[in-house]
Amino acid sequence: MKELKPYLEANKQRFLDELFDLLRIPSVSADPKFAGDVRRMAEATADHLRTVGAEQVEVFETAGHPIVYGEKMVNPKAPTVLVYGHYDVQPADPLNLWDSPAFEPIVKKTKLHPQGAIFARGSCDDKGQMFMHVKAFEMMLKHNLLPCNVKFMIEGEEEVGSKNLEKFCLENRKKLACDVVLISDTSIIDNDTPSLTVGLRGLCYMEVEVTGPNRDLHSGVYGGAVANPINVLCQMIASMHDSKRRITIEGFYDDVEKVSAKERKLMNEAPFDEKQYMKDLHINDVMGEKGFTTIERTGIRPTLDVNGIWGGYIGEGAKTVLPSKAFAKISMRLVPGQDPKKIEKLFQKHFEKIAPKGVKVKVSPHHGGYPVVVPTNSVEYKAAEKAMEKAFGKKPLPQRGGGSIPIVAMFDQVLGVKSVLMGFGLDSDDIHSPNEHYGLFNYYKGIETIPYFYQYYTEMKKKK
Ligand code: BES
Ligand code: MN
Ligand code: MN
Repeated sequence: MKELKPYLEANKQRFLDELFDLLRIPSVSADPKFAGDVRRMAEATADHLRTVGAEQVEVFETAGHPIVYGEKMVNPKAPTVLVYGHYDVQPADPLNLWDSPAFEPIVKKTKLHPQGAIFARGSCDDKGQMFMHVKAFEMMLKHNLLPCNVKFMIEGEEEVGSKNLEKFCLENRKKLACDVVLISDTSIIDNDTPSLTVGLRGLCYMEVEVTGPNRDLHSGVYGGAVANPINVLCQMIASMHDSKRRITIEGFYDDVEKVSAKERKLMNEAPFDEKQYMKDLHINDVMGEKGFTTIERTGIRPTLDVNGIWGGYIGEGAKTVLPSKAFAKISMRLVPGQDPKKIEKLFQKHFEKIAPKGVKVKVSPHHGGYPVVVPTNSVEYKAAEKAMEKAFGKKPLPQRGGGSIPIVAMFDQVLGVKSVLMGFGLDSDDIHSPNEHYGLFNYYKGIETIPYFYQYYTEMKKKK
């Protein structure tokens, strides 16, 4: 693989320019206004795959946004790796909080990225990371070094819950047949501390509506005598954590798998500077479940968070009103053992139970997803470990990620294949936030690491 380094060096600028072009496409999957751009992004991704030599490239229609497929079968005896990624992005709002426009990529230096980072929505999550795979693939094909079969499945609905992907996988079982799924859509600890993600949290996302009186009322004439749905909702939400910041929904923790003291100890040995963490976020303290460290709170413990809350008068000035309705979007991150379908029911039951008689409540589910644990003794994990060690000069640490990628559990349950979560972003890269960025170091390091994975995985699989 010595040949690849000079090629990467010589093509660095082009690899960046090509990514920039993709980052200029506002492929926001959540907002129908951008449906045309989402499609344009799918076509652009397919064009790239064709250009670098993938075959059977196709943009597949779904009930939602299209799925891009492509493959290169080099040897029927060699293993097949399915690369999964997503070309859709989160909405860029609030736009006024971006230092430079979200869809006009630009390289700027930061403290953690002294060599520069690409600022744009999707730079890290996941266009930049997805495109590393296209470029690594290009390098390997150009030098005739691809040792295994590779399939690409790049979807456009990850950020809205991958609603149509399961159906696509079921209908295309044969086409997608593979030995392992390779995904770069997670983080490393820092640029000197490579890590592999060995767990992802699940998700249960709900929306609630609280209705008091049948219409908005004068808050003086009626105030104090009629339930104010916003007051009530706030109280209900507050009551869902106890004084130890544990979630009070009955049965919520019943299925949480216990993590051994040994694993907890190991997990806390990973480098983490809590002072720096607080400083970066401009907070004077961290807050979470008693008895657990920050790493544990995001890695192995479930949560309940309000993502948005609204109702009443929020216009200019003051209006004295007792509103008729209040709303909130509430998500729960789940950990291994917990079942999003079961949690959905527990939440609904609990929310209805704690509502005072003076209001009516409506609870409806959004998307959900199962948590994931990745074994560290598999061939694919060992191959990824070796690939990262080769590229970074350091063995990667196993780390649980706090985010969710619901399709990973589906790949396991439905297709019966395990995933390797080899991401290269940093948790501080501001994904989903204004000023999302992705380090140039991380982008190029990813492109360098991926070919090693193919090489080691193919070798190690043969031996087994
Ligand atoms: N790439 C993220 C998930 C992620 C980020 C995992 C960092 C680990 C570390 C993914 O695009 C994402 O944002 N997923 C959503 C879930 C989805 C159902 C909207 C999430 O975690 O909120
Ligand atoms: Mn992602
Ligand atoms: Mn995301």
